[in-house]
Amino acid sequence: MAAIYNPRQVILVTCRAEMDILGKKQLKDDIITLSWHMPVSFDPAVYAIAIGTAKFSSKLIQKSGVFVVNFIPNELEKQALFCGTHHGEHMDKFKETKLTKEESEKINCPRIKEALAYLECELINTVEAGDHFIFIGKVINSAEIKQGKRLFQGPSEAGYKFTTTE
Ligand SMILES: Cc1cc2nc3c(=O)[nH]c(=O)nc-3n(C[C@H](O)[C@H](O)[C@H](O)COP(=O)(O)O)c2cc1C
Repeated sequence: MAAIYNPRQVILVTCRAEMDILGKKQLKDDIITLSWHMPVSFDPAVYAIAIGTAKFSSKLIQKSGVFVVNFIPNELEKQALFCGTHHGEHMDKFKETKLTKEESEKINCPRIKEALAYLECELINTVEAGDHFIFIGKVINSAEIKQGKRLFQGPSEAGYKFTTTE
C-alpha cells in the first residue's frame, strides 16, 4: 500500500532509556527513521508517531515516556536509510552515522544537532494499532533552527526510495 499513501516526510526519532541487555543494565540511546507521524492537537501541542511493536525504540519510549521528533534535511538520506534498516539494541546509531548528539532542554533524551527543527515530547498516551504502537506525545519544547528541503519516502513498493520537493 506504500504506493498509495507515499510520498511521506521522513523524520528521525531519538530516544533513551536504561535497558537490561544480555543481563547488564545499560543506558541506551537510539535513532529510528519514521514516515508514519502527524500533529494531532494545537493546544496543547501534541504529536503522534507510529512505531512497530517489536522495534527497539518502541521499548525505549515505553520505558522512558519521552522522545524527540527530529525534522531532517534531504541531505541526511544515507543516515536515515541506515537508522531505518538497523536494529539499535546492539549498536550505537549516533556513532555509526556520525550524527551529532545534543541533549534536550526539557527532557532526558538525545536530539540530533543536524536537524532543521525538533519537538521534545512527553508521552501522554499509547494506542496499540495492529502491529504498530501510536505514541502520542505532548510537545513540551520545540524549535525551528533553519529552513531546508525535507526528505520524503517515495511511493516505491520495492525497498526504500527517497524524494524531495522542488
Ligand atoms: C524511510 C523509512 C521509513 C520508515 N518508517 C517507519 C515507521 O513509520 N514506523 C516504523 O515502525 N518503522 C519505520 N521504518 C523502519 C524502522 O526505521 C526500522 O525498522 C529500524 O531499523 C528500527 O530501529 P530500532 O529497532 O533501533 O528501533 C522506516 C524505515 C525507513 C528507511
